[in-house]
Amino acid sequence: MYHKYDAVVVGAGGAGLMAALQLVGKANVAVITKLYPSRSHTGAAQGGICAALGNTEEDHWEWHMFDTVKGGDYLTDQDAAEVLARDAVERIIELEHMGLPFNRTPEGKIDQRRFGGHTRNYGEGPVRRACYAADRTGHMILQTLYQQGIKNKVTFFNEFHLMDLIINNGRCVGVTALDIKTGELHTFHSKTTIFATGGYGRCWQVTSNAHACSGDGTVTAYRAGVPLMDMEMYQFHPTGLYRIGILLSEAARGEGGILRNSEGERFCERYAPTLKDLAPRDMVSRFIYQEIREGRGVGPNKDYVLLHVDHLGKEVIDSKLPDITDFARTYLHVEPYHEGVPIQPTAHYAMGGIPTDIEGRVIIDEKGTVLPGFYAAGEVACVSVHGANRLGTNSLVDLVVFGRRAGQHAARFIKENDYEELPTTPEKRSNDLLRFVEGGAQSGRKESAATIRKEMQECMMTNVSVVRNEKQLLTAMKKLQELRERFTKVGLTDNSTKFNTEKLEVLELGSLLEMAEVTTKGALERKESRGAHYREDYTSRDDKKFLAHTLAYRSPEGSVKELRYKPVTLGRFEPKERKY
Ligand code: FUM
Repeated sequence: MYHKYDAVVVGAGGAGLMAALQLVGKANVAVITKLYPSRSHTGAAQGGICAALGNTEEDHWEWHMFDTVKGGDYLTDQDAAEVLARDAVERIIELEHMGLPFNRTPEGKIDQRRFGGHTRNYGEGPVRRACYAADRTGHMILQTLYQQGIKNKVTFFNEFHLMDLIINNGRCVGVTALDIKTGELHTFHSKTTIFATGGYGRCWQVTSNAHACSGDGTVTAYRAGVPLMDMEMYQFHPTGLYRIGILLSEAARGEGGILRNSEGERFCERYAPTLKDLAPRDMVSRFIYQEIREGRGVGPNKDYVLLHVDHLGKEVIDSKLPDITDFARTYLHVEPYHEGVPIQPTAHYAMGGIPTDIEGRVIIDEKGTVLPGFYAAGEVACVSVHGANRLGTNSLVDLVVFGRRAGQHAARFIKENDYEELPTTPEKRSNDLLRFVEGGAQSGRKESAATIRKEMQECMMTNVSVVRNEKQLLTAMKKLQELRERFTKVGLTDNSTKFNTEKLEVLELGSLLEMAEVTTKGALERKESRGAHYREDYTSRDDKKFLAHTLAYRSPEGSVKELRYKPVTLGRFEPKERKY
């Protein structure tokens, strides 16, 4: 089936919806989404969205920018960090005017709370910068933006799986997507295409990411020849529910919660005397890792630590942390009013992704060459505002700030450009991919996608997580190569056309295997420690060699062909040692 639009947005989370809202009324726009929009993963974000409103104490956007740059271990592009910190203030007010039900101060202002790495006066101590709606801020943003989408009559194609990016004559002119309900392939011919498809946390065994977070947009761009940037920079959030990975918001620590080891010690203050439990999350994840490694973990296997909020009292817990404390009751049968909750670091967020400039335009090399018509925003993109480690609550700001900028730039591009002379290419690659996946049913291919996925997730958890070394990374590369070979022998047991979730899982696994390899390869070659990428065999940051973004290019066979390095955009803040 063929469709023609001025703009196609892929993904209906915060970034996609924000982009689409810039285009309605100015252009003919469609949003394609794998899920029903209100199930998008933005809804899982919990603790807040930050902006230097200064509602409860003094704050300035320059302090926010500094924290973002330092938090990102100076891999952050400072032009992007400036845009984020400046623009955040207006975007929060815009969300408020759209009807977002923020928590309020007694005087009726938007309330703000502390979060990891957010400081006053360039690092002096914690500051209240995160605006929030209890511990369901992302859910509220998603509902608010979706309501605006409905009000503004945005056209949605729900439950469509992205298959391919169409590039013709050096311009992006649309996508192909599979209608999950019917099994039919659709071609969307468009002047502009905006990817807002989220991350790929499902590469790991313990993750806060939903099943749908399989890197569909990232892999689609990569397969179409776009490099991926800084993929080794994958964030582990310190407080995931033990073994399950569901997020327990940093807001718990922002409200005064603390982490304790088996000796009952508040160990973070030993590592980070100023910010303690509110040090940036790459660091807190490493503190936990170190405690467990040195035998101070809790439980029969000494492999978790405890998050305590019991001293905060029932009223604070019920009004500010209702959802996460319910998760602890439901999944681990612990009562946070009275006892610590078992937690461990959980795979949470991709700082890397599709490289873009500050307008959301996708770039394809170290010189910043733009691929006309193609945009990306949100977790799928790497602008790079988070550098080597994202600060908590900066992801939701990123969605609304850069989703909006991508939408606005696309609207201008649509006005100024024609595309009639650029037909879509036949959907050959999409059909080949579908034929490969479906072909397994007849050919007697016997490998199971579920088994391969489990082995990949275990491999990534063991070898490519909070702390890495060469031996582990080489082990992972070898195992991933074996899994990719086995993947070519995966067979389907269900060959139906309508709502075939098995087929979808195979497509997603193909994507995850490629994302796992790029992440591991980037980590292997970055022989230094920076932010979330901690190498125990290269423990220092090496600004001489690696104050640079990694660009990974794909070979036609699907593995990493080449890594190149792109200079970081510096600015007001010179790289310094990170101390908290
Ligand atoms: O801890 C949290 O609520 C997560 C926030 C974030 O990832 O930004």
